[in-house]
Amino acid sequence: MRDGFLLDPDVVQLNHGSFGACPVEVFEEYQRIQRELEAGPTDFFTRKAARWFWGDPELPGLMAEARAALASFLGAQVDDLVFVPNATSGLNAVARSLRFEPGDEVLTTTHEYGAITTTWRFTGARVVECDPDDVIDRIGPRTRVVSVSHVSSATALVFAVEEICAAAREAGALAVVDGAHAPGQLPLDLSTLGAYVYPGNCHKWLCAPKGAGFLWVAEEHQDWVEPLVVSWGWRDDADFAERHGWAGTRDPAAYLTVPKALEVHATFDAPRQRALADLAETRLTELGLARLPGEPAPYMRAVELPPCDPALLWRRLFEEHRVEAPAYEWRERPFLRVSIGPYNDEQDVARLADALLDLTRSPHPVW
Ligand SMILES: Cc1ncc(COP(=O)(O)O)c(C=O)c1O
Repeated sequence: MRDGFLLDPDVVQLNHGSFGACPVEVFEEYQRIQRELEAGPTDFFTRKAARWFWGDPELPGLMAEARAALASFLGAQVDDLVFVPNATSGLNAVARSLRFEPGDEVLTTTHEYGAITTTWRFTGARVVECDPDDVIDRIGPRTRVVSVSHVSSATALVFAVEEICAAAREAGALAVVDGAHAPGQLPLDLSTLGAYVYPGNCHKWLCAPKGAGFLWVAEEHQDWVEPLVVSWGWRDDADFAERHGWAGTRDPAAYLTVPKALEVHATFDAPRQRALADLAETRLTELGLARLPGEPAPYMRAVELPPCDPALLWRRLFEEHRVEAPAYEWRERPFLRVSIGPYNDEQDVARLADALLDLTRSPHPVW
């Protein structure tokens, strides 16, 4: 499987969760599309990719076909989903469309991805962070938005988003689920999950090229969600897909490669990937490192480290051992995260465990 990826074979890659990795087959399709575009830019943009140029939005075009393939994978109606470059862009479109009154609150967890919490702060709303287990109890009369990760980045846990969304809806709040890590890692059925807003990424666990993300919005909320870039698709009577579908001339190849990424993703051995993540956790536990309680992400595990400088550890893992696994601070506690991509094997896990052992026994131990 390793040969099927473009990754540097001299590095033990255990950080799939951050930026994903593109299988050769998917990357070749991506480049084929880019070449096709360059062979006839006008033909590509106006006829092949988005035929609404010709006044007939009903004609499918490659963009619509790619959206349909993704929607079907996500258990969504195609009209409720648009491509955006990444989860951050999708969340920004929603957050920046909301008009908050003084005192309005965005309720979120202490486990969220920093850029997402920063976006909520940017809106001027009061951001209230709490433990994921306390979210439902903390929903109050000023809660306008409840925003939780489906799978958390720093702690690699799966949260009970169905229950949280149900409680948010009951309280009249906007239920937002940050799905950056879910597609391709968790089974998804967006039409029944209960969120009103669900941005996600295809470049992480679906192994699509970077630049392929999506924004899903429930039909009843689509009217007020403005695109980050207003362009030709904006008209009073335009639907969600039209408004968000065209953001000026830009390379759509990452979006158009999603159907191929879905096809290749279907060939991955999910139980093996999960078993390897379990093995990684076992090895780390043997070194005295434990993860936080809660449901672990299928392919990612984050363990707490003894007091140390995580940035130095991350650097030494890479420079001295050619192992790529991020170490960082989460709420002033050092953590290490291991992600298992489809290309990893037992030797990669052993290399990480050996490297950690070595770094703790070196003349300058990391902890
Ligand atoms: C939980 C979570 N949300 C959002 C993001 C942002 O993703 P992107 O940078 O692709 O927009 C990430 C990125 O790793 C993430 O882990």
